Amino acid sequence: MKILILNGPNLNLLGKREPEIYGSQTFEEYFTELQFKFTDIELGYFQSNIEGEIINKLHAVQEEGFDAIVLNAGAYTHTSIGIGDAVAGIATPVVEVHISNVMDREDFRHVSYISKHAAGVISGFGLKGYDLAVESFK
Ligand code: DQA
Repeated sequence: MKILILNGPNLNLLGKREPEIYGSQTFEEYFTELQFKFTDIELGYFQSNIEGEIINKLHAVQEEGFDAIVLNAGAYTHTSIGIGDAVAGIATPVVEVHISNVMDREDFRHVSYISKHAAGVISGFGLKGYDLAVESFK
């Protein structure tokens, strides 16, 4: 099985960015741990701060042989009809992940253009949410 982890804007700053909310580990460190944990799964990782690049990647996953996507679209979750439409338009299943509990934060974070088209949503478990999302596809 091949699973893509797709991170959106500002998630390249993990470890440095608001550590009280997002923790002090970089995603690269965490991704290495994830690869050790799921040796039976081929994990891919893509991060972009650019909305169109995220949409292009969502369109490419099937051709690239991925069976599933773990998507943290960051702030675009709450604003991007385009990313929501892309998730709706592809056959590959998507689990939406948020490191923080978005429902316990500002009202604008309570809206997601992705959730309706996702197989499920995981929010508030820190980086462990990515583990849980990968596990959900097994
Ligand atoms: C986030 C939550 C979003 O509201 C925020 O804009 C992010 C990260 C999370 O993982 O908790 O960039 O998706």
